[in-house]
Amino acid sequence: MSCLLFLSLKIQNHGGLAEYFILKLKVGYNLKDLVMCDDRKCMKLRHLFLITIISQLFSLQLYSQSQTRFLTVGSDTIPSIKKKLGPDVVVRKDGNGVSAIEVKATRVGDIQEIMHDEFKRCGGFGEHEDMDAAMFMTSDEIHIKGKNPPMFLVDYQINQQATIPDLLSKVSEEEILKVVVQLSAYINRYYLSPTGYESTRWIMNKWRYLTRGRSDVNVKLFHHTFTQPSVIATFEGESDEVIILGGHLDSIVSGSRGRAPGSDDNASGIATLTEIIRILAESEYKPDRTIVFIGYAAEEVGLRGSRDVAATYQSMGKNVVGVLQFDMTMFNGSATKINITNDNTSAAQNTFLGQLVDEYLGVTWGYHSCGYSCSDHASWFERGYAASNPFEARYLDANGAPVNELNTNIHTTRDTLQITNGVEHVTHFVRLGLAYTIEMDKD
Ligand code: BES
Ligand code: ZN
Repeated sequence: MSCLLFLSLKIQNHGGLAEYFILKLKVGYNLKDLVMCDDRKCMKLRHLFLITIISQLFSLQLYSQSQTRFLTVGSDTIPSIKKKLGPDVVVRKDGNGVSAIEVKATRVGDIQEIMHDEFKRCGGFGEHEDMDAAMFMTSDEIHIKGKNPPMFLVDYQINQQATIPDLLSKVSEEEILKVVVQLSAYINRYYLSPTGYESTRWIMNKWRYLTRGRSDVNVKLFHHTFTQPSVIATFEGESDEVIILGGHLDSIVSGSRGRAPGSDDNASGIATLTEIIRILAESEYKPDRTIVFIGYAAEEVGLRGSRDVAATYQSMGKNVVGVLQFDMTMFNGSATKINITNDNTSAAQNTFLGQLVDEYLGVTWGYHSCGYSCSDHASWFERGYAASNPFEARYLDANGAPVNELNTNIHTTRDTLQITNGVEHVTHFVRLGLAYTIEMDKD
């Protein structure tokens, strides 16, 4: 009998968690025989099998212990980080107020703590696949305002006045509210929890229901290596050019896996997308370009869902001509209703968004900064796509100076509808999303 043993272990590293899978074990003897057998050949094989397993597990352990993570943080935080982490942190590059650092995986929690306790920042750092990606975030290329998408230059014309106002009149606060209430009712939408999965399926089913009877629309789950999938609704167009509107569907409460209603962050963004889908479907809108709506998984733990989706779209050679991110659209905290994030975003597309607000919404708008890769638009921007993020209030002012206008209840049990006192603010973002979709779609 020929004895073949193919054993491979695939080690994947995600957020410090080493996961391993035995992919394939193919033996002339099956696994059961291997345990029971007593002929020489089989015993030898069993021996080999056990040694392989043990050595793989051993190297896996060494691997996860020695692991480093690649982060970017505001350069102002470096003295505090160095003080607390000592030799466990190395600064590789500084530029434009951002520092690219290499950190021992076990110390990431300490950085989170410094950001939260000392600098009052939510997260306050970006995580990257390798040091090159982290160092890119310090480069002038990202920080010079006026960066255009290198992939494809869209003609940002505004000429759809015959179609857009009618669609904008269909926005319903009642419909938006239903989505926010439903999503906030799950204990949390944490990326590893059962309710993180159930709430994702609810979104998929809602989007399927809204687009029922449309053979040109499909709604699918996009699976990652963790429990929670992303949801992707595709309105197939005539051309292969793709317009993406997204927002994250997970929620988190700092410091535990407990109750995280995440009404503003980010049931509001998913409600924004859902209302745009509802209006396009009910109006029987047939796109020229392909329009894709994405509910991203696991944003709150390092943009993991969107980084995965963006990498996949890029490797598939999808011609993405514009990306819009809705993350927090319900809190009316600033003098300007719509606040366009001016870092890690496309300046040309941002200008276009401002023009759309003036043309179709007639509400106040301005720019603000996040100061770091604060949401899923950054996953696309890092890869060179034209991404933008219209936001509910100013986080930092346009020059990066702190202002006090943020919904400070995010990532707590208090991120509920009561804080925002209704969904009126969301309607501006639905209308902007609709205007963006139609103007980007039709030349
Ligand atoms: N919605 C927030 C981002 C945000 C918060 C933007 C406040 C502007 C002001 C988002 O869901 C979030 O919390 N992001 C993480 C990103 C990190 C894990 C890469 C963060 O800021 O902690
Ligand atoms: Zn968010």
